[in-house]
Amino acid sequence: MEGLVDLHCHYIPAIDDGVRTHDEGVALCQALKRFGYATVTATPHIRSAMFPNNRADLEQRFERFSEQARESSDMPELLLGAEHFCDDAFWELWNRGEALPYSGGKAALIELPVDQLPLRLGDRCFRMQVRGVRPVLAHPERYAPLFGSTAPIERLLEMGVLPLLDVMALAGKYGRKPQQAAERMLEEDAYYAACSDCHRPADVEVVAEAVERLVELVGDEQALLLLRDHPRAILRGEVDR
Ligand SMILES: [Fe+2]
Repeated sequence: MEGLVDLHCHYIPAIDDGVRTHDEGVALCQALKRFGYATVTATPHIRSAMFPNNRADLEQRFERFSEQARESSDMPELLLGAEHFCDDAFWELWNRGEALPYSGGKAALIELPVDQLPLRLGDRCFRMQVRGVRPVLAHPERYAPLFGSTAPIERLLEMGVLPLLDVMALAGKYGRKPQQAAERMLEEDAYYAACSDCHRPADVEVVAEAVERLVELVGDEQALLLLRDHPRAILRGEVDR
């Protein structure tokens, strides 16, 4: 596969639970490039108590990483976004204009608590859309309320929220229930795109195994839509859903 676009990856060093050093970040990006990724988006966590990162800081750290990484060969194109944890602190950040949508500003990555869907999520996603920013929902297969059925997020999907499969779920990286939920949501055609969510260079081997499984499940053509065409459409604001 070639020309893939990753919308979720943790390669900026020592900023969250991703890579620890610059060299590790470069090694992760290079491994993704070798696998077939032309573009890899850094999505560091913004999560009030755990990873209190802010927009200005992340932009600066991204610039620093990208500049140094230019000295390394065989790097993919690097873009920036953030993985926003959807608690009240995030919505305050959003209202102040301090959230960090994907490069180009057409969409933003959000993640939810694993045990329950937040109150008022639908209204808030609607407000993001009104401002022209598409909410991209990180790893829905990992949320307990969705293990048995996609129904709890049906309204969000109708409204245009875009579920982003973390492919490593298909290799069993997060356990049996997320794996089964991912397989079911693929069968339902619920996902709009798929990402790596790599935190370490070694994760790329798992991604390779998972993409093989993805192709077995949905075929080459659909896999390329999920891994290449739709992520690109999200960045360009050309989503057809
Ligand atoms: Fe992540």
